[in-house]
Amino acid sequence: MNEPPPYWATATGTNASVGPKNWSRRLRYPRSRWIRCVGLIFLAWVTYLHWTRPTPPSSHTARGLSIQRLQKDLATCSTLRTKPTDPIGLGREKNARYVDGHKATLIKNATVWTGEPREKADPRLGESYSWVSADVFLENGLIKHVGRSLSQLHELPSDTLVYDAQGRPLTAGIIDMHSHAGVHSLPTLHGNEDVSELSTNITPYVRSTDGIHPLDRQIQAIKSGGVTTSLILPGSSNNIGGEAFVIKHAVGTADGRNETSVADMLADPERTWRYMKMACGENAKHVHGKIGERGPMSRLGESWEIRRAFETATRILREQEDWCDMAALGLEHAKGYLPYDIEWEALVAVLRGQVQVHIHCYTIPDLEAFVDHSNEFEFKIRAFHHAHQAYLVPQILKRAWGDDPPASALFADNMWYKAEAYISSEYAGKHLYDSGLTPIYVSDNPILNAQHLVLEAAKGYRYGLPYHAALAAVTSGPAERLGLGQRLGKVKPGFDADIVVWDSDPLSVGATPMQVWVDGTAQYEDPVKLDKPLRDTIVPNEKLAKIIEDPVRANGDVVFTGVSEILSTTHPRTSRPDGTFNVAISAGKIVCVGVCDSELQTALFHASSSVIHLANGSLTPAFTAFGSTLGLNAVESEKVTDNGVDGETFSRGIDGLALDTNKLHTSHRYGVTRAISSPKFVGEGTHHGTSVGFNTAASSSISPGALFSEDAALHYTLDLSIKRSGDTPSISAAVGRLRHKLLNAVAGNLSDTKAGESQFSEGAFLRKVVAGELPLVITVHSSDVIAAVLRTKVEVEKAISEAGGRAKLRLVLNGASEAHLLASDLATARVGVVLAPLLSYGVSWDQRRALTGAPLTNATVVDALISAGVVTAIGLEEDWIVRDLSLLAAIAYTNSGGKIDAPEAMGLISRNIYKMLGLEEPKWFEHFVVHEGSPLQIDSRVKAVGDGTGHLHIF
Ligand SMILES: *[C@@H]1O[C@H](CO)[C@@H](O)[C@H](O)[C@H]1NC(C)=O
Ligand SMILES: *[C@@H]1O[C@H](CO)[C@@H](O)[C@H](O)[C@H]1NC(C)=O
Ligand SMILES: *[C@@H]1O[C@H](CO)[C@@H](O)[C@H](O)[C@H]1NC(C)=O
Ligand SMILES: *[C@@H]1O[C@H](CO)[C@@H](O)[C@H](O)[C@H]1NC(C)=O
Repeated sequence: MNEPPPYWATATGTNASVGPKNWSRRLRYPRSRWIRCVGLIFLAWVTYLHWTRPTPPSSHTARGLSIQRLQKDLATCSTLRTKPTDPIGLGREKNARYVDGHKATLIKNATVWTGEPREKADPRLGESYSWVSADVFLENGLIKHVGRSLSQLHELPSDTLVYDAQGRPLTAGIIDMHSHAGVHSLPTLHGNEDVSELSTNITPYVRSTDGIHPLDRQIQAIKSGGVTTSLILPGSSNNIGGEAFVIKHAVGTADGRNETSVADMLADPERTWRYMKMACGENAKHVHGKIGERGPMSRLGESWEIRRAFETATRILREQEDWCDMAALGLEHAKGYLPYDIEWEALVAVLRGQVQVHIHCYTIPDLEAFVDHSNEFEFKIRAFHHAHQAYLVPQILKRAWGDDPPASALFADNMWYKAEAYISSEYAGKHLYDSGLTPIYVSDNPILNAQHLVLEAAKGYRYGLPYHAALAAVTSGPAERLGLGQRLGKVKPGFDADIVVWDSDPLSVGATPMQVWVDGTAQYEDPVKLDKPLRDTIVPNEKLAKIIEDPVRANGDVVFTGVSEILSTTHPRTSRPDGTFNVAISAGKIVCVGVCDSELQTALFHASSSVIHLANGSLTPAFTAFGSTLGLNAVESEKVTDNGVDGETFSRGIDGLALDTNKLHTSHRYGVTRAISSPKFVGEGTHHGTSVGFNTAASSSISPGALFSEDAALHYTLDLSIKRSGDTPSISAAVGRLRHKLLNAVAGNLSDTKAGESQFSEGAFLRKVVAGELPLVITVHSSDVIAAVLRTKVEVEKAISEAGGRAKLRLVLNGASEAHLLASDLATARVGVVLAPLLSYGVSWDQRRALTGAPLTNATVVDALISAGVVTAIGLEEDWIVRDLSLLAAIAYTNSGGKIDAPEAMGLISRNIYKMLGLEEPKWFEHFVVHEGSPLQIDSRVKAVGDGTGHLHIF
């Protein structure tokens, strides 16, 4: 352990010796001798002082304390006792962040979401909110007017900039209440990681501002999603992690600022409120606990460390209060200076109500323990972050200290990644809202790409949160929680002029900003705009309020009527006179699509049959999850639930299959009836061995119909994780090794089993690969490594032809964030690409050239690949995304400017995977999904799933 920092020794007042550092020190030295020794020195000192005490000068009190300093301390007392209130919005001449010289702006003809209900309406009632046609006038960094025809009604400065929104939706800037942008810059570099101060567990004294890199590109990428404000929190490895700061996403002169600095980014330059990150649960005990050396080793130890910290802060608070009371009676009463300890200053300020507390806690015991602490030490909790189980225990949250229960800062549907994230619900937002609590959606960037935070809100709406509450969950909700509710999150006079004009309703699929203003300054000179027709804003769909229960198996035949859309290319279609289709299903198979009169008549008069009327139904193929750990894992970070990590050991996915999991049931509910999964190489998102193609509804690997391909492909990984493997310490070694394996296979007997080698050995599969019988899937992101793989393909094919063969490698790239840079080469080489993620944001160095899309980049990788004619699919780099597969395809469709049509978009998550792997597609009449609404729209829901098992599952 390091020595205490110098300020510890020089801290003023009598409390310098209080605290864990002193405690840990004492433990390390033999005590008795020291005590005796120190005692003697002290005695000598007192005696000396007694003999030589000088008369204090007039600048000092009788006790020899500096009067000037005491006066300063006394003044500090009133600062210490100040309780902040939320800073005002209306009434300001100008925004303190306003940079002189910036011109006023009139945004005319927008469709505006003000964020407020109509007057006198109950703010929780959805119908009192609406989109309104209006102009918005910005001046001095403030919203000055919101109303119709402002250019006629008001005298505007002659140099006012005019932006014509042409009827597009306009909202306040999106607010992300949980981000690590700047402290975890992207692409991730070891040298730039400043999220957590891991030296010890209780670090209230560190500050995220000290590590925010203004030039982190991610700060810009995030803004391009309409996010103008973020709370930059320290990480969650410490029970008390340090101070957090609210920043705006405008950096330097290019963004209209005076200078490039963190101070310039602070959302409230006056620093009215302070913020602090705390955490409980798995992290602290796993990061810090060391048996016999230091805690916490358990949640028990964590609570103790937290309570001891609060107790220390409480003691300092009392001593300060006593000092201030006495000093107020006259400085001569002061026995010392104002007690103060920089180590505990921020935590004392929490107790003084000056610091807003944000706590990372997932589970019921964690939430309950912290609510206990809040009552024991009397501090408010502004929000529980992650809070996966909060929806189960609203009454616990309501018991927290103070009059205002904590909000819950959530992901919409990211879960399962660790034990404490296992119990969770996509309906959590709705449940919390229905209990009178506040759900807020956050990114935890870079865990989620905060650029798409508005998609979290859209999913909140999809999962039953009222439309206005979903929008509030990323605007006025977090603004209010940050104590900035009079300045941010609404489009109202007096508010900071952070504005987004969207190309479509912000809660619609693929919504993208056309322009973003921060403090009244437009952020893009020449933003890329997607080719998207103007559409009406969403009319909230009341049906979404119904939570979907478990499906039932249909007993008899079923006919769906009112199917208005068939998103498949493979079957005949004759619609009924009204343009809709009937879809008749018998024994889990579609037997008719079209008019289907006889099936309908039979169903209507048959007791065991049913007819289900859809308002606006849709029929699509069922979806396939490629490249996830579905079927091989239940909880990512829990080894006992996982198939494990292969490293260089070759294995087959089929041998690790573990079915009937929560993940697989969820997949099935969301129309994903099949998955193709391989063992992991070194960790999440890496692949090695052969993948198995299986039915997500199967109960075991030997149940009939469970598998559709025992070995679907042979997988290797060539992303950055390759260097974590001992056998291939470099990219060059890994590429060379793969080439060597393939050339060896060519040199061997082309497709027969070699003597002494089983048909299931790596060598046998490699020989199938070089015989063109088995696809080779490489997980890779960097375009440089992709180029190396393409060269290898040429070399191997040359060797094949020299050996008299004619086979071509069937090559598929997985991951492929930089594939757009080689799109035409990939098309020429007939290489298939599975994008995982669909929308990379350059998390790692080998993805840094990813395209983040409009308004920053022209198109994304999927557009470039499809334009070049590459067979493309969407894969899963994390399992939770399985719920969103159809949404991702819908985003690709919506934002493609017409280049990807609807059936092709569905093909990205079904047909194309089979095409590139050379596998037989599932039969469309057996593997299908019936949706209520269009799967290309945010408010669609799965109504029935056919999965090839002979049963129809109906919701
Ligand atoms: C910006 O810089 C100008 C000129 O140096 C100065 O007058 C102004 O106060 C600065 N504004 C802010 C918000 O820092
Ligand atoms: C506002 O925009 C809509 C959609 O582009 C257009 O139809 C309308 O004419 C515009 N109104 C005005 C006053 O410009
Ligand atoms: C954007 O990319 C498309 C191809 O995807 C191309 O046709 C178009 O010219 C590009 N536009 C700009 C402004 O570069
Ligand atoms: C039905 O869905 C289509 C898209 O598939 C959409 O354009 C249309 O507006 C929807 N109609 C209704 C009544 O919801």
